[in-house]
Amino acid sequence: MRKNKIVVGCQWGDEGKGKIVDLLAAEADVVARFQGGANAGHTIVVGDKKYILHLIPSGIMHPGKECYVGNGVVLDPYAFKEEIDLLTDQGIDYKGRLWVSPATNLVLPYHKLIEDVEERSRGATNLDTTKRGIGPAYVDKVARHGIRVVDLLAPERLKKKLDYQKKIKTKYLEGSADERADIDRTYNELLELAELFRPLVVDVSLALRRAYDNGKTILFEGAQGCMLDVDLGTYPFATSSNTTVGGALTGLGIGLKMIDQVLGVVKAYTTRVGAGPFPTELVDETGEHLREVGQEFGASTGRPRRCGWLDMVILRHTVRVNGVDSIAITKLDVLDSLEEIKVCTAYELNGETIDQVPLDLTRLSQVKPIYRTLPGWQSDTTGTTSFDDLPLKARDYLNFIAHDLKVDIALVSTGAKRTETIVI
Ligand code: GDP
Ligand code: IMO
Ligand code: MG
Repeated sequence: MRKNKIVVGCQWGDEGKGKIVDLLAAEADVVARFQGGANAGHTIVVGDKKYILHLIPSGIMHPGKECYVGNGVVLDPYAFKEEIDLLTDQGIDYKGRLWVSPATNLVLPYHKLIEDVEERSRGATNLDTTKRGIGPAYVDKVARHGIRVVDLLAPERLKKKLDYQKKIKTKYLEGSADERADIDRTYNELLELAELFRPLVVDVSLALRRAYDNGKTILFEGAQGCMLDVDLGTYPFATSSNTTVGGALTGLGIGLKMIDQVLGVVKAYTTRVGAGPFPTELVDETGEHLREVGQEFGASTGRPRRCGWLDMVILRHTVRVNGVDSIAITKLDVLDSLEEIKVCTAYELNGETIDQVPLDLTRLSQVKPIYRTLPGWQSDTTGTTSFDDLPLKARDYLNFIAHDLKVDIALVSTGAKRTETIVI
């Protein structure tokens, strides 16, 4: 029986992964995050309460579930503490069920300072990042001088490593009046934060293997989306991690066989936050309508999300590079009042028809979408829990997507709440 699922975003993030992971966590024992950092904003609605998680796996909302943060994540210890405090205030207990890998790299204040400087110097071609220090932290990791969770537990080594940072980052730090440039201050703050981490540090790879051997069900929670993958997305308008399934193997130290099913989360239309090509973007009243009805404002930064029609070319790429088995289609209800709904089935470029994502970003930014127009269902689907209760035209829309991608639909989300879901 297939049981260990990985949940990955199929577009440019914010597909509704948080809701889907929260839903599936009810059936799992363990939830693990493998990449990204506090750039993620995963929204979970429990009853009338809304929670936004950035670093802590979405399984934390279910009492008793074990949650792991893998080595592939870049962890901002300040943001992590804030998140823990917030959950504790809400009566959610993390003790004894939240674990962090010692090999997880840290995002420190100077990373955010560096990102600000870099984004400014890019001028009009800036990446419009979340400013969470993600890029500079991954740069340090790959350069092999990153500061890791394990270093928090060894003050002398931590001091030495931070002193080295002072030496190599003079361009950004020396003479800066910004308090984020003050590495001695960061050192003292980290000594305090270390106490929070000490009881949470475990070998995540080993813990997951033991959980697996004991027959526990593991859910792997992706952040961002395929098109933001540093290798397979719209580079350089991407994040700095592998958001696709490969990221889970290296980001947790697990074998290929530990994942039984790849579940791709597909929003029923497309959104993107930040800069970069977006062929089906709508800069008209329909785009505005999707933003308003879908409440498309960033869960981490509050930025308005760019909105557009569903893009099958993007989804074909995502399904292939992730080996997606089945999809969860979210936010179907947002399309309810539209008279007609367009779906991009291919691109046109200089008279040529393209049905796969061109890897040359310049070409991708020049393509014109070729649309197929489907009739809208113009009735309220919010909260529908059975596929058969959906209007025929909504079912046709969903089947059209599944047929093109040659995947099964596992879930359809018809609202932000746990209960507003069709399980197929
Ligand atoms: P994530 O980053 O993939 O977890 O997605 P976000 O949490 O950033 O954004 C998804 C937004 O859509 C959140 O505000 C969710 O509460 C909301 N949402 C999720 N599923 C549905 C749905 O089916 N219908 C509606 N209307 N909202 C949804
Ligand atoms: P979740 O997990 C949507 C985008 C940023 C920017 C680019 C690079 O909630 O789906 P970064 O700060 O990562 O260096 O920014 O990636 N981005 C996201 N967009 N959802 C996210 O996460 C994102 N995380 C990063 O807007 O365009
Ligand atoms: Mg989000």
